[in-house]
Amino acid sequence: MRVSARPTTLVHSMLPLKVLTVFYVLMNCAVVVASKLQDSTCTQLDSCSCTFGNGTLLDLSPLAFKSRPRFVLDGIQFQYLYNPCYNFTFGECENVSMCQYQNVAGNYFVLGTQDSAYFVTDTDDDHIVFLLYSHTDSYGFTRHTTVQLVCSNQTTDDFIFLGEHTLRTYVFMLVSPHCCAK
Ligand SMILES: *[C@@H]1O[C@H](CO)[C@@H](O)[C@H](O)[C@H]1NC(C)=O
Ligand SMILES: *[C@@H]1O[C@H](CO)[C@@H](O)[C@H](O)[C@H]1NC(C)=O
Ligand SMILES: *[C@@H]1O[C@H](CO)[C@@H](O)[C@H](O)[C@H]1NC(C)=O
Ligand SMILES: *[C@@H]1O[C@H](CO)[C@@H](O)[C@H](O)[C@H]1NC(C)=O
Repeated sequence: MRVSARPTTLVHSMLPLKVLTVFYVLMNCAVVVASKLQDSTCTQLDSCSCTFGNGTLLDLSPLAFKSRPRFVLDGIQFQYLYNPCYNFTFGECENVSMCQYQNVAGNYFVLGTQDSAYFVTDTDDDHIVFLLYSHTDSYGFTRHTTVQLVCSNQTTDDFIFLGEHTLRTYVFMLVSPHCCAK
């Protein structure tokens, strides 16, 4: 997987906004629509699994490694490392889920911890499930990461960098059979 040196134009540039909209709508109308949404919303169980109202499970643990990143995207300027479910350590990214390494400057940025993992279902748009992460660094800067979980019956697990959507907001896509409700 090639990672662009500069933030790329997002194919799904509206998605993170849409996620937030859905989130706030959910917050405000939770009581009224809760029963209606129950079936299509994936309710979080832990940092990498959730369950739909029909009892099916979306579980990323089979693709995760125990203590090293499952996905390493090498770019010219940046490296992105990701592991769902279990912590890994890479340089100054200690006990994290997602790390950005700047090749030239040698800087490490935590893009998400397992503790911050948060499932959001876009009930408007064919039940797309997102896994969100965040981390606030020692300077007070918060980085937000969105991983869109794409169900596919292909035999490989693909992790794709879509871009830095806005400053310190990173968007990825995980395409895998483990993103399917089973
Ligand atoms: C359960 O619900 C999810 C989300 O709506 C859907 O993707 C899946 O196909 C459903 N599975 C069954 C067996 O109904
Ligand atoms: C990372 O995890 C190890 C082992 O659980 C622990 O000893 C260490 O203090 C942790 N470091 C941070 C920064 O959380
Ligand atoms: C993973 O790391 C976080 C800190 O980022 C820590 O709070 C948590 O206890 C760690 N989990 C395990 C299983 O080591
Ligand atoms: C699953 O794979 C088969 C080919 O093996 C393909 O025909 C089918 O469209 C795929 N289904 C989905 C949901 O991707």
